[in-house]
Amino acid sequence: MDIKQIFKNNEAWIKEKLRLNDQYFENLAKGQNPDILYIGCSDSRVTAEDLMGVHPGEVFVHRNIANMVPNTDLNVMSVITYAVRHLEVNHVVVCGHYNCGGVKAAMQSADLGILNPWLRNIRDVYRIHHEELDLIQNDDDKYNRLVELNVQEQCINVIKTADVQRAYRERNLTVHGWVFDLKTGRLIDLKIDFGAILKNIMSIYRLA
Ligand code: CO
Repeated sequence: MDIKQIFKNNEAWIKEKLRLNDQYFENLAKGQNPDILYIGCSDSRVTAEDLMGVHPGEVFVHRNIANMVPNTDLNVMSVITYAVRHLEVNHVVVCGHYNCGGVKAAMQSADLGILNPWLRNIRDVYRIHHEELDLIQNDDDKYNRLVELNVQEQCINVIKTADVQRAYRERNLTVHGWVFDLKTGRLIDLKIDFGAILKNIMSIYRLA
């Protein structure tokens, strides 16, 4: 890719935005008030705003390898606290995607250096759900199911945070688990039963 082209694209983008609204950037600079926190995969094919059809200012975005929410990761934990406590978003989305390289890597026996502890979190998801996963004969089906279960477990990790528990009680914040299907472009709602999960785990994980 020609890096110079990116700056040309940027100039064209500015022109187009100003053509539709000459106050566009002045308004953008005033501040943000997003209602959604999106936690997705860094995969270059799964662009947060594009697939949701939303515009700058509407969604607070965090992306990492395989849309993980490890509770010792200061990066994702800071993002959740900032979005929930300070921006006061009412929705937290964890969005995975089929054909996720991170999930695939975690299904293989390989030493990947510094990626090992990161991917270990996905191996833990496999271990928690191994009875269901081991029954799936087809490797692609097993891989896709692990993608879904990983989203579910990361949603549970979101629910384990004090900020989310407090925001649920005070203003009914909701956590959503989605999967993006690269082959069709479709966004699939896994319909995670947030209330039921919360009820289930609160005896152990209640913080706030
Ligand atoms: Co991915």
